[in-house]
Amino acid sequence: MIGIFDSGIGGLTVVKAITERIPGYDIIYFGDTARTPYGNKSPETVIEYAVQDTTFLLNNGAKIIVMACNTASSVAFDIIEKRFDAPVFEVITPAAELALESSRKMAIGVIGTRATVKSGIYEKKIKALNPGARIYSVACPLLVPLVEEGWIDRPETAMIVKKYLHPLKVRQIDTLILGCTHYPLLKHVIQRKIGKRINIIDSSTGVAGKVEKFLKERPDIDSLLSKNGKTRIFVSDVTDQFAKTARVTLKQNVLLEHVKI
Ligand code: DGL
Repeated sequence: MIGIFDSGIGGLTVVKAITERIPGYDIIYFGDTARTPYGNKSPETVIEYAVQDTTFLLNNGAKIIVMACNTASSVAFDIIEKRFDAPVFEVITPAAELALESSRKMAIGVIGTRATVKSGIYEKKIKALNPGARIYSVACPLLVPLVEEGWIDRPETAMIVKKYLHPLKVRQIDTLILGCTHYPLLKHVIQRKIGKRINIIDSSTGVAGKVEKFLKERPDIDSLLSKNGKTRIFVSDVTDQFAKTARVTLKQNVLLEHVKI
């Protein structure tokens, strides 16, 4: 199975991207709904949670791990990669690469959680690939709770998005990275507020391409993955709201399995 985790609902945007890109692979998902959001927590806490999330997935049949969370990817990837034998994927590098491919002016905006923005990971990755690029980052701590709450099309959410994007509008960016896997659920609102000429890069789609390429190059690992087209979704707290938003995200009925990790 492909093991995928996030603090909550956001990683389902990665599940969707992976099942669309490489259909048929069995997926085991863990959403840490009892402890969401991760983005306002310290790196130490996020690392501890990421280790537990990965351990749960590996103990339950995952053979590769996708950290479908920018926050965990930004502060815990190196540790997770060293600590576990399984191949591990993060969502930051593919989004940084796609942004550089898309940007003509090399002026790139990034929105993410406080922890992701504070880590400076997007600046580091993008500058390593193109030192001349200008990157402007804004933390948007209210967006994850709004998405978890299902407040996708509320006028209040649109107002908050507008306020967060204001500093980026004056910077003349041409590309905006959604540096949190929850944000694709607000993509239409974000696009409306940032302007239709700005190219939006979604951190959930890039990683799907990386996983596909890796599995093509590594038939030894690919052969370890079961392929019955099944997705199991585990959460650390079952809520009606998660079930509803999961249904909307995956466009199918979902069965949530409760687990304490
Ligand atoms: N979806 C996650 C991310 O990409 C986590 C958000 C949070 O829990 O704060 O950063």
